[in-house]
Amino acid sequence: MGEVDAAFIQDIEHRPQLLVVEAEGIPVIDLSVLNSFQEGDDPRGLAGLVAEIGDACKDWGFFQVINHGVPSDLRLRVETVAKKFFALPLEEKYKVRRDEENPLGYYDTEHTKNVRDWKEVFDFMLEDPTVIPASHKPDDQQLNELRNQWPDYLPEFRGACEEYARGVEKLAFQLLELISLSLGLPGKRLNGFFKDQTSFVRLNHYPPCPSPELALGVGRHKDAGALTVLAQDDVGGLDVKHKTDGEWVRVKPIPDSYIINVGDIIQVWSNDTYESAEHRVRVNRERERFSIPFFFNPSHYVTVKPLEELVIMQNKSPKYEEYNWGKFFTTRKLSNFKKLEVENIQIYHFKKDI
Ligand code: OGA
Ligand code: NI
Repeated sequence: MGEVDAAFIQDIEHRPQLLVVEAEGIPVIDLSVLNSFQEGDDPRGLAGLVAEIGDACKDWGFFQVINHGVPSDLRLRVETVAKKFFALPLEEKYKVRRDEENPLGYYDTEHTKNVRDWKEVFDFMLEDPTVIPASHKPDDQQLNELRNQWPDYLPEFRGACEEYARGVEKLAFQLLELISLSLGLPGKRLNGFFKDQTSFVRLNHYPPCPSPELALGVGRHKDAGALTVLAQDDVGGLDVKHKTDGEWVRVKPIPDSYIINVGDIIQVWSNDTYESAEHRVRVNRERERFSIPFFFNPSHYVTVKPLEELVIMQNKSPKYEEYNWGKFFTTRKLSNFKKLEVENIQIYHFKKDI
């Protein structure tokens, strides 16, 4: 990518502050007890881990996991093919470019209007096809099938991506169960929402940036789905906003670990017991950076609302109006692509005045 021109310059809100606290980071949680835990074992054996996860979700909405059981060769393979793919000439990458019909595949921000992030991306869904609403309009019931696009000039790409996605999906379900337990719910309480999941994986490439103080790899945002499982390389650049003091804190790369963050849906399900944290990515003058988030999302027909039994347990009233996940997802995809007249929808639009 070339100079940082006007299209990439982030407004004051988005501009990196120079001060980033590095001293204390997000919690690091060791998942090795899961390796000896069998289906049907008494979940009380996980009490220590569940408490750690609960505290991390409350204090940060973010944590890193080690000894997570995802085979490291799956990760190595997908990282290798991602690097190969992004190193191809633009015209090759454009053969799997996303367009108005298909939001999946490759896009680069340099040639995409209205996107200020300093990055290029490849997206694929876990389920192929994935069904989502065709339009954001509430009364339009039409559905649409999203299909992945794969580059045929890199034959090992597809297999590496699909196997990686299945490996990380398993970790995502384990974390979902731990989070459910940490809320005082049965372990499998949330699993049913993911039967026809709309989860996807994004390969991110952040090229070196000549003026890193003017641009961001990804501007500040919260993840809209349930949970994100992110692999980052050793370059670093992900900052998380710490809820209690508002400081941006750099997430220190730990080899072969995953960064987990609670998304907006868990915030709503938990009725604000857990909050999805703001985060952003800073870019680097010298080094390119690669990262791979897995966005764990429910089925399009799921109605997202505070879980009734939890609201009763908390002795509170629900803090959100219910919303349909598919419509939310489609609205986001459309507004990202064209910045249509569609507003960039946020969960606070569903917050009740109480
Ligand atoms: C994202 C994101 C972080 C990273 O894509 O939503 O927050 O480190 N990415 O790339
Ligand atoms: Ni994010």
